[in-house]
Amino acid sequence: MTIKHEIALAQGHIVHGVYVISTRLGEKVNAMTAAWVGRASFEPPLITVAIGKTRYTYDMVKGSGVFAVNVLGADNIATGKRFGLKSGRKTDKFAGVEYDTKTTGSPILRDCIAWMDCKVVSHHDAGDHTLFIGTVMDAGVLREAPTLVYDKESFYK
Ligand SMILES: Cc1cc2nc3c(=O)[nH]c(=O)nc-3n(C[C@H](O)[C@H](O)[C@H](O)COP(=O)(O)O)c2cc1C
Repeated sequence: MTIKHEIALAQGHIVHGVYVISTRLGEKVNAMTAAWVGRASFEPPLITVAIGKTRYTYDMVKGSGVFAVNVLGADNIATGKRFGLKSGRKTDKFAGVEYDTKTTGSPILRDCIAWMDCKVVSHHDAGDHTLFIGTVMDAGVLREAPTLVYDKESFYK
């Protein structure tokens, strides 16, 4: 086994939740599913998200400086697939999807379990991804349910 393969296998044991990262640039809204999301600070409340440089969401978050983290529930796998398996460059992933907007204008999905509306405070180059750090401007819990835990089989079989 190569070290590259070994690294990939070991990294596969890191536990992630599944989130939808949404944003708005002018009148355009878009979102993508992300597992590489984390907390970085209590005060101020900071959230990190690693976004691949090829994603349309990457261009939009760079341009707008805002994003919302929509926390998916264990019953939201279809939502994770909707936003994670195709790009918003050519399709409107929000067609027929109900959402609200709060402080930043980024879409807040009505069927997520919790949300955090964030303003980008810095971003850091991280290989083929960029690590965006956002300060949480507003947040809410919409329903009590277990968070969807990332499992490759649920999305890529
Ligand atoms: C479960 C799941 C987790 C994902 N996690 C990430 C992630 O953390 N970072 C990322 O850049 N892409 C991630 N992706 C891939 C993007 O969601 C996918 O490339 C999406 O089509 C990008 O959409 P966009 O071009 O509209 O931004 C994930 C996809 C799935 C299905």
